[in-house]
Amino acid sequence: MAHLSLKNVGKTYGGSNQAAVAGVDIEIADGEFIVLVGPSGCGKSTLLRMVAGLETVTDGEIRIGDRVVNQLDPAERDIAMVFQNYALYPHMSVRDNMAYGLKNRKTPKAEIEARVAEAARMLELGPYLDRKPRALSGGQRQRVAMGRAIVRQPAAFLFDEPLSNLDAKLRVTMRMEIRRLQKRLGTTSLYVTHDQLEAMTLADRLVVLNGGRVEQIGAPLEVYRKPASTFVAAFIGSPAMSLLDARFENGQVMVDGHALAPVGNAPGPVTLGLRAEDLRITSTGVPMRVDYVEELGAHRIVHGAIGDQPVAVVDNGGAALAETVHVLVDPAKLHLFETSTGRRMDTRIQAEAVPAQ
Ligand SMILES: Nc1ncnc2c1ncn2[C@@H]1O[C@H](COP(=O)(O)OP(=O)(O)OP(=O)(O)O)[C@@H](O)[C@H]1O
Ligand SMILES: [Mg+2]
Repeated sequence: MAHLSLKNVGKTYGGSNQAAVAGVDIEIADGEFIVLVGPSGCGKSTLLRMVAGLETVTDGEIRIGDRVVNQLDPAERDIAMVFQNYALYPHMSVRDNMAYGLKNRKTPKAEIEARVAEAARMLELGPYLDRKPRALSGGQRQRVAMGRAIVRQPAAFLFDEPLSNLDAKLRVTMRMEIRRLQKRLGTTSLYVTHDQLEAMTLADRLVVLNGGRVEQIGAPLEVYRKPASTFVAAFIGSPAMSLLDARFENGQVMVDGHALAPVGNAPGPVTLGLRAEDLRITSTGVPMRVDYVEELGAHRIVHGAIGDQPVAVVDNGGAALAETVHVLVDPAKLHLFETSTGRRMDTRIQAEAVPAQ
């Protein structure tokens, strides 16, 4: 096991004039579970593959433990990688798939048998050890891929969208299983996904990437509660945070001519972020047109607009809704961003800006 350190890491693919990854700094503690999350093409796989040694590093430095690994072959890096497509050997049994990497490293036979047996026990693969991968379900194949990584007892696990090929229910089960195993083994892990929910539920800390750069690093709830930018605000959370054009007037934040909350004063336009669960439908407040309602059983999500700006609200009531409802927001729960840069505005600015009464 080891800590992982990425310093100013960048990658420009040959023939491309644009960096796929740029200026990435991440310090990963021993035993930590870090999730790289972001939309398609933001550089997640590129970054992971540089750590694995499957892509050359064009800028910066990657350390695994105390070693700089930039120039090392994948086999010399003491990492195990789990891919979306499992990458199992079709002609080998489950047992041989799991043992293969250890045999290559000339691990003694008795040791291989013991490690494979232990991994099979942890992953409940015992009954399938003599089967070929084609005779397994998708979830079982994924467990074999996990088993192959575990038996290696590497310094770090690297996962690239390992659950994407599974159905929604199995994904949730496997997600919990990976989390439980990782905690038990205490192996430093770097996990790539485009699924923000997967990222939120798995990570000790998540790294949100946008266009090859880090937007924010933090614990899931920290990122959820204090997104550093409109990009993160819109990406993390479901439904997505509503982002509205707003401005300040007399200490109030105004949307479409309506005063929404007393939060302070600042010149120029701002972007107001509202989480659906922080808005309440009441008899007073700002008028919101109702467009459609998602009934989710435990609650419902009301989609509509304030003025012409889309807003979503979580509602626990079951009563029929009028075409226009009224919504209130707790001033402590709203988010403000600089419209020009999309960066979060410090809540201190708001506090200081509230005019003395
Ligand atoms: N071998 C390559 N040669 C040139 N450009 C590449 C290569 N591989 C990836 N890219 C480019 O680098 C950028 C980042 O790609 P990457 O595969 O890392 O994205 P990703 O975040 O993993 O996306 P996804 O969620 O779709 O898997 C993209 O713009 C992609 O087109
Ligand atoms: Mg990818």
